[in-house]
Order: sequence, then C-alpha cells, then structure tokens
Amino acid sequence: MARTVTLGPDTDVLVIGLTSSENGPSIAPDDLFGDVLTAEVRAELLDQLGAVGAKGKAEELTRVPAPALLDGVTSVLAVGLGAPDKVDAEQIRRSAGVAARSLSGTEVVATTLGGLDLGAAAEGFYLGAYTFTPFRSQKSAPKPDEQPVTRVEFLVPEPDFGEEALQRAQLVAEAVATARDFVNTPPSHLFPAEFAARAQVLAEGAGLEVEVLDEKALEAGGYGGVLGVGKGSSRPPRLVRISYPGGEKKVALVGKGVTFDTGGISIKPAQNMENMTSDMAGAAAVVATVLLAARLGVSVTVTATVPMAENMPSATAQRPGDVLTQYGGTTVEVINTDAEGRLILADAIVRAGEDAPDYLIDVATLTGAQMVALGTRTPGVLGTDDFRDRVARISREVGENGWAMPFPAELRADLNSKIADLANVTPHRWGGMLSAGLFLEEFVPEGVQWAHLDVAGPAYNTGGPFGYIGKGGTGVPVRTLIAVIEDIAAE
Ligand code: BES
Ligand code: ZN
Ligand code: ZN
Repeated sequence: MARTVTLGPDTDVLVIGLTSSENGPSIAPDDLFGDVLTAEVRAELLDQLGAVGAKGKAEELTRVPAPALLDGVTSVLAVGLGAPDKVDAEQIRRSAGVAARSLSGTEVVATTLGGLDLGAAAEGFYLGAYTFTPFRSQKSAPKPDEQPVTRVEFLVPEPDFGEEALQRAQLVAEAVATARDFVNTPPSHLFPAEFAARAQVLAEGAGLEVEVLDEKALEAGGYGGVLGVGKGSSRPPRLVRISYPGGEKKVALVGKGVTFDTGGISIKPAQNMENMTSDMAGAAAVVATVLLAARLGVSVTVTATVPMAENMPSATAQRPGDVLTQYGGTTVEVINTDAEGRLILADAIVRAGEDAPDYLIDVATLTGAQMVALGTRTPGVLGTDDFRDRVARISREVGENGWAMPFPAELRADLNSKIADLANVTPHRWGGMLSAGLFLEEFVPEGVQWAHLDVAGPAYNTGGPFGYIGKGGTGVPVRTLIAVIEDIAAE
C-alpha cells in the first residue's frame, strides 16, 4: 500500500467521507484537496449522492460513477461519518474499515479520508482489509472479487504530510494482523510447541532475544501451574520469553496462551466449544506487541512472558481437588479445571516479576463472566487503581473500549482453600471476572503497577463483521498495549 497526492489513471475507486446534517450530507474535509475535489466536482458528487439517498449516516456506503471531471477515476465510494461534531479518530477508523471491507476485489483505491486524520484513516483501511484464508483449498479459495483491496493511496495536502502517522498505522495494523493470524489458526495446527516455535521465528526475525522453556525445563523450574494445565494433553506445554531492550523503564507483558480450552475434566458443553480456539488471544496480543514495540523503537524495555498449554481431559489430566505448586511456591487447590487460565498466568506473573518491572500488564480470555458483565466488545480492566484507570482510558482512546472494574474486598476470602494456600475458584458465580483478578493479584509483586485485561469477548468476534473488525480474531488489545507502552515512554 502506498500514498500519493495525485489521482492516477488507474484509480478504480475514490473513497470520500460524508457527514450528515439536517440540510443533507456534506463532503468532509471541506477545506482540503481543492485541486481534485473542485467546487464543481463537489457539487456534482453531492447531487448524485443525494439522488441515490446518501445521508452521511455513520458507516453508510454509497457508490456512484465518478464525475467526468475526476480524471482517471472510475467510481466514487462515499462512506458516512455521521454528525460532524461526532467525527473522532474512532469514527474515522470505523468508516475507513467499512469502506475497506466493501472494496474487496478492487485494485487501486485512493481516499481523502486521511485529510481528517491520516493515522486513523490508514489504520481503519489496513485493519478492515484483513482476511484469513490459509485453510481454504482450491475448492473454496477466495475468488478475485473476494480478495482484499490491493493498494490504498492516501491523498495528502502536501508532500511528506503525516509520514510518521502513516508508518505507525502500517506497523500497528501489521501487529494486529499477526495477533489475528495466531488466533485464527485452528487448534489442530496451533498447539503449544508450534505456537512457541512460530513466536520464536517472528521474534528472532525482529532481532529479539527469545527463550523457550519446554516441558523438561518447566519441570526443572517448578512451573506447577503450566504443567498442571498442560498434563492432560499429548501436546506438552511451553513458556516463551521475548525481550526487547528499549530503555530503563521496564514493562512486563504476560498473556494467556491456552491453545485450546476443553475445560479439562471439568469439561465444557459441546455447544460453541470450537470458539475456545481463541483462548490464546492474550498470548497472541503480547507476542505481537513486543515485536511492535521493537519495530517502533519505543524507548522502554518490554518483556513478554507467555505460558502456553492445551487444556484437555485425559487419563493424565489434573483432577478437581488436585493441589499444585505454582512457580514461586504458592499452593493451589484446583477445584475447577476449567479455571485454567489463572493457573498458567500465576506462574508467568511470578516469573515476569523476577525482572523487577515497573509495570506489569497481563492479558487473558479469562472468564465468561467478563461477557456477562460487559458484553462482547468491552474489555474489563482490573489492577492497581491508578494504572488500571490509565490503561482503561487509553484503551478507549484507541477504540478498544476498556472499562475499569473494582476489586470488592469481600470476594478475596472466597478464594481460601481448606487444604492449600488458595483455591482456583470461589464456591459461587458472583463477580467471576473480579475473583479471577483477585486470584492473579496474589502473584503480582508488591509495588509493581499492574493491569489485568480480561478480553474473553472482545478478542474474538463470533458475530458478523463491523467497522474494521471481521469475523474471528480481532487483535484486541494490541492497540491498547502499544499505546500504553508509548505513554509510559513519554512519561
Ligand atoms: N477460557 C475460558 C473463558 C472464556 C469463556 C473465554 C468464553 C472466552 C469465551 C476460561 O478458561 C473459563 O473457562 N473460565 C471459567 C471460569 C469458571 C470455571 C470460574 C468460566 O468463565 O466459566
Ligand atoms: Zn477454562
Ligand atoms: Zn480458558
């Protein structure tokens, strides 16, 4: 994908933005690109768009033949931005994403949307153009008109305008695509050793240091949580560490990498179990983010600690009632083998804490309760008060919608076990997202600023596409994580 200031003779579609008002739609921005969108062209476009009912409502799509004066352009796609006073970066991303999705099969697209916010428009286009097709044989291979748009050119008011924003958008979208690819790869093909190997290839390709602990090393190191969850599977667990040394301040990232969650002996119902291929979305996001931090050259040290296991029921699986010893020595009574994420995360959090990070962020598709509380598009953010609020605010700024959640003190006692230091679940279902967070809190070192993101719903879209999000892996919360890291770098 490239950009230009002129429309080429091969421009198939010009994408413009339309805002809505009582007096009809207007083309936005109205003060740029006068050489292309002359007063005459604008007037003709508005006539044609009005004639076919365009209103400029958010994400509305209207396609018309290009006015003859728009030399070399075949058609114009107007995408709605809604009311002019509500056009923020997220609206631009969403509108650009909807446009990109509707343009499959198109080769060269040019757009004026970058005149509103180049970074947001580019991010929306690149994210919206994502597809995942490696598992289609000839029989269902995407036809030419189903291929993502090949090239998007962003009209800019002057040469070199927004070079950095465009570059960042491209790298961010690539990282989101990396996370989506991992999540979308089925559990037949992505199991702990394979996930670790793929993460290692990517990290080494970016010049980063990688350490992979296999089952023997995990045994030797005393990683009882990762081993306990992994031992029901014929495909042994891993723990991957990827480091980007970017500066003095240290951010630790931890991500849940359950490559498939059957629930284990506390087995899940068959209905929708296939969606548990997404139970490594936290791991995918932190692997993608540490690579992105390196590509962007952020001036913060970022280390990802990623436990990977497959939660299966078998004769070798852990049982409800088993007691395991987490890395670092805490003992846990495993009441419910389906509350496995917290067991592998606890080991990883303790390991990450040994680097004495200033900040620790863990990401996990941890609880169904997250979706009961917040729905499928709003991550729950828990942790130490100030950092939790900061992460939630930044998450909303980037369009990932994080929302701060409390730690009700009375819930903690419900995690007490009769025979071990802790139980992995409470004896009731109330505040399930919060008690999972309270469990993790036990393993976060004193004095570290901590945020826990529960992305059970937001990481995986089981419904239809919307905005710049398609079906399947969404890449949430990569854009939150990188924005938080950049915010820390700017402190
Ligand atoms: N991976 C699930 C959580 C989940 C559910 C993610 C739905 C995405 C969609 C997790 O391991 C789990 O099963 N949690 C249990 C915890 C319970 C046993 C305390 C849950 O939420 O039911
Ligand atoms: Zn589970
Ligand atoms: Zn799980």
